[in-house]
Amino acid sequence: MIDLLEPQAGESILDLGCGTGDLAAEIAATGARVHGIDADAGMIETARAKHAGSGATFAVADGHAFTLAEPVDKVFSNAALHWMTRPDEVIERVHAALRPGGRFVAEQGAGRNVATLIEGMRTAAAEQGLGDVVLPWYFPSTAEHAGRLERAGFEVRVALYFDRPTPLAPGDTVADWWRMFGPTTLAGFPAEAHDALLRRVDELVKDRQFRDGGWFADYARLRFVAVRR
Ligand code: BEZ
Repeated sequence: MIDLLEPQAGESILDLGCGTGDLAAEIAATGARVHGIDADAGMIETARAKHAGSGATFAVADGHAFTLAEPVDKVFSNAALHWMTRPDEVIERVHAALRPGGRFVAEQGAGRNVATLIEGMRTAAAEQGLGDVVLPWYFPSTAEHAGRLERAGFEVRVALYFDRPTPLAPGDTVADWWRMFGPTTLAGFPAEAHDALLRRVDELVKDRQFRDGGWFADYARLRFVAVRR
């Protein structure tokens, strides 16, 4: 992703959804002026402490509603946009943050991201009479997202969809993935139902998501480069 960004010394880059700032610091090491924003105050506190000497700056801001004092040359985002569930608002903010000709370079979960994990959760919840599964993510198809970018005034130069099966941490199962990344989904069900629900999810997906002694998540990525017209 950093190769695709092609950071240049002196140019200004916003890292949107920077998390704990590791990529922002890596980009700043090229000599670019990097500012990272994230809606999670704990992440920003960690980013400031961990990367104090990197030259990157960090602030708490919501991707749906941020403004910058000066337009930037590039906006970068990795594995964050799928947590922002009103994409047109985010794209409009990115457009406003870029100078004309500036680039939006990003990767996020794509249309069938974690489709097996979601299907397992839906099937298990239905079997156990728990009702609808509410998801906190935006996983668009390539065409859907490119259309949003074009309507907002971007020219899409790259749009790439690819699968990236990703091993879970040693010892973790798909149930642990749901506990870590889907607490808001689980909160839709009674707490006393969670253990049986997650055990059933593991059973349902094991034939597809367990191999060579370890569990995998079926990640699919959408990577794009768009230029502000
Ligand atoms: C991801 O695709 O990186 C992802 C999606 C949902 C939850 C956690 C990670």
